[in-house]
Amino acid sequence: MWSKTGLADLIGAKLRDYRFILVSNREPYIHHYTGKGIKRRQIHCFQPASGLTIALEPLLRACQGTWVAHGSGDADRAVVDAHDRVAVPPENPSFTLRRVWLDDQQEQRYYYGLSNQCLWPLCHIAFTRPVFNPEDWQSYREVNALFARAVLEEADGKPAFVFIQDYHFALLPRLLKDANPNLIVAQFWHIPWPNPEVFRGFPWKEELLDGMLANDLFGFHLRLHCQNFLETIDRTMEAKVDYERFEVRRGGKTTLVRPFPISIDFADHDAAARTYKTKEEMYAWRKQLGLTDELVGIGIDRLDYTKGICERLRALDRFLTQNPEYQRRLVFVQVAVPTRSRISQYSALEQEVTELASSINRKWAARRWEPIILLKQHVPQDRLMALHRLAEFCIVSSLHDGMNLVAKEYVASRVDEDGVLILSDFAGASRELTDALVVNPFNEEETAQAIRQALQMPEEERRRRMRKMRAVVEENNIYRWAGKLLSALLKFEFTAHEQTTTAAFG
Ligand code: G6P
Repeated sequence: MWSKTGLADLIGAKLRDYRFILVSNREPYIHHYTGKGIKRRQIHCFQPASGLTIALEPLLRACQGTWVAHGSGDADRAVVDAHDRVAVPPENPSFTLRRVWLDDQQEQRYYYGLSNQCLWPLCHIAFTRPVFNPEDWQSYREVNALFARAVLEEADGKPAFVFIQDYHFALLPRLLKDANPNLIVAQFWHIPWPNPEVFRGFPWKEELLDGMLANDLFGFHLRLHCQNFLETIDRTMEAKVDYERFEVRRGGKTTLVRPFPISIDFADHDAAARTYKTKEEMYAWRKQLGLTDELVGIGIDRLDYTKGICERLRALDRFLTQNPEYQRRLVFVQVAVPTRSRISQYSALEQEVTELASSINRKWAARRWEPIILLKQHVPQDRLMALHRLAEFCIVSSLHDGMNLVAKEYVASRVDEDGVLILSDFAGASRELTDALVVNPFNEEETAQAIRQALQMPEEERRRRMRKMRAVVEENNIYRWAGKLLSALLKFEFTAHEQTTTAAFG
């Protein structure tokens, strides 16, 4: 079983002489001013609603490295030193956050534009049309170069292992390797990779793929995404794709392509869920939501069109029509965290979800009961944990999702070994959590039936399924993800590049 100490031992033994630098767009801690006018001096630090940063934070704590990310908070500049660095977490500093500054136009074009209006819909295939804008692409290149500069400064010419996250930085590996071939560079793509036919339309595909192939190791959540990627390379560029070994060879360089299903810090999560504080929070939720003895279902998502929130609410409506005995008895709490709201599809979705929830509530409202409670706000982890504990079932109905950590968090919170998970077949998590009720999220009838099955499932079966899912998440935890990734990289370096490696890892 991989644990925090196991990973720290591996890093200590193999990467002892290396700087560990992690790169992501979203920073793990954001500083904001609170208060208005003259009182606007208090600085508040919070963790954003990002599965990626929540998953990677324990890893950085374990290896005490440097995390390079976009400084997006309005008080971010006020807390960094002369090198744009700040030690985090604030209450118990254990690693360095190096902030990179973007101007408004860069943020608009690189982040909202190329990353989230082009690559995001392209890779998710959730039927939202990608926007291919040449100015966005220019900005994407520019920002990748900005991050390359920051990473090279942090490496400072010393041996370093650079671990890049996600679709914001496809060009970064090439820029780093060109500047310093001795860097060990790995990248993990947290979202799906589409089939080659879908990717074919991306106008700058050769440059994007060339950037990605500068990595020593490239990771996806699923084998299917690796296969899609290998086929995309095969169809797009001059390269030798080895489907047996899951490798690409190009210009004398080999890139390993491997699946590593990401996860959470199960031990930590489990321990927190057992505390008295969680019990208090459960009580606070009941009070806030006005719950007495209702049955509770939950959904927790960023307000993103890939999450299938409308499909889920319509399934709930269908369920109430088909099962009148649950009217006035079932309450569904949907936490929807606003995200990327500058993009029109996201603001339109927010409106659609709000109107849909109100119209379903108007349709069913009776006495003081309404079936849907929609909370459009960020909710901190410890409060979410308590919400998980209150729920008879949790629905994750993503139309497409790389992994989906909400599913794993729900399971890890259920220290009472109860509760049912309804999980989309199109979320990566469904490959591991086979004891969930797996549904096609586009099929609202099937989801409605799964809600009924969840509510009528005998206790013994609920417990059997939940115990099995908990065992899976406990074993496939975040340390295993990181450990497997590092081990693959080390093994590859030793066998394929004996020369470089001896120098590198000697
Ligand atoms: C997904 C992406 C992450 C991203 C997160 C939140 O998990 O893979 O890269 O950080 O969504 O989105 P945001 O755009 O707010 O960072």
